[in-house]
Amino acid sequence: MTDTVPTATGAAPGTLRAFIAEGLERARRRTHALTACDEEELLKQHSPLMSPLVWDLAHVGSQEELWLVRDVGGMEPLRPEIDRLYDAFEHSRSSRPSLPLLAPSDSRGYLADVRSKTLDILERVSLEGSPLLDGGFAFGMMIQHEQQHAETMLATHQLRVGEPVLHPVNPEPGVLALGVTGLPREVHVPAGSFTMGTSVEPWALDNERPAHEVHVPGYWIDTVPVDNGAFIDFINDGGYSNPGWWTAEGWSHRNEDGLTAPKYWKRDGHQWWRTRFSVLEPVPIDEPVQHVSFFEAEAYARWAGRRLPTEAEWEKAARHDPVSGRSRRYPWGDEDPTSSHANLGGAALRPSPVGSYPEGASALGVHQLIGDVWEWTSSDFGPYPGFRVFPYREYSEAFFGGGYKVLRGGSWAADGAASRSTFRNWDYPIRRQIFTGFRTARNAAPAGGE
Ligand code: AVJ
Ligand code: FE
Repeated sequence: MTDTVPTATGAAPGTLRAFIAEGLERARRRTHALTACDEEELLKQHSPLMSPLVWDLAHVGSQEELWLVRDVGGMEPLRPEIDRLYDAFEHSRSSRPSLPLLAPSDSRGYLADVRSKTLDILERVSLEGSPLLDGGFAFGMMIQHEQQHAETMLATHQLRVGEPVLHPVNPEPGVLALGVTGLPREVHVPAGSFTMGTSVEPWALDNERPAHEVHVPGYWIDTVPVDNGAFIDFINDGGYSNPGWWTAEGWSHRNEDGLTAPKYWKRDGHQWWRTRFSVLEPVPIDEPVQHVSFFEAEAYARWAGRRLPTEAEWEKAARHDPVSGRSRRYPWGDEDPTSSHANLGGAALRPSPVGSYPEGASALGVHQLIGDVWEWTSSDFGPYPGFRVFPYREYSEAFFGGGYKVLRGGSWAADGAASRSTFRNWDYPIRRQIFTGFRTARNAAPAGGE
């Protein structure tokens, strides 16, 4: 059993530089598109859970300056006085609006200054021979960072109230209503070992490393994420009012937050409606459910006579090729995602109906593992055996053992650069503003022949 050698990021140096420049540019286009609204909208705190958009805007520039201009490029600070304002560990999200932040136009100017230096540095540094630069890692880390903040900014936009400012492109990419006709509801994965994590993917972050063998007992896993229709069945069956489906911790959360449906939903008679980026619309029954907490996902799974998959079960379903015994980079193989594999990149402003991406299925026949919605797993966020901090402890290590649950796959709002079969995301089990859903699993009978 082996880990997988990547494609694009393992390319020749000239190709790699062009690939990095394109990734930086794509991230920046998104940052600007998500902050192309009235100043007032950028300065306002739309929710205490989120930063004002103008904080995210300058923060991506500040991180790029720290890692690429100062560390890799060895250059002097552009604006040393702003460093602490944009340090996420110095100021909580709820306190950020009261900081003397750069104004939107200043922030944009700062981002442009940093970026022009970054591009000069990209031309002159060697992309091999040091851990930080091998395969363009530091650049890849910053591309992923900016893309992760783009997803965070989308969550802020989804929380804001008022006239819509974001509009889906038309026709909506990735929304292919193929449906689940003909797909089995679940897939059996026989007991056995597989390679989890990676030691060779150049842009894999520290928490995805190193590759290690994991033995997984036999299990069954849903072919597609749980959809809104199935979740409505849970609601209609009294799912939110029967403590029997909830853990004690989950039931307190349900009561404290007065939960009766996914966030952004409301009922009118028999019809469920949702608000999506300030537009009220009927809940589409064939779309993966999103904006549910870990506890709601767990309660649904119990109600359905099932459970959430572990992180190892999720990754095995996504990567393991039972014929070769290899672990793939992505469910469909080793190629980077295209629009026929997965709904990624944020343009759709929504998940695609379940069953939409037959070309994105894994070797084991599991669909929509990448894109559409992040998926809750039952696992706590912690280090793999042999974990080493790289390059800074505040990315991952500071969160280990902090009560976070692992999220896998990447949502419609994630970019392909920050979504792969080894990628690990995490959040508190009560969080609902993120673009997260789930699929369920169950144990396989410990029968012979496995
Ligand atoms: C990995 C998505 C949980 O947004 O808090 C951004 C990513 N780390 N800046 C986050 C991150 C530093 C992180 N998540
Ligand atoms: Fe950040």
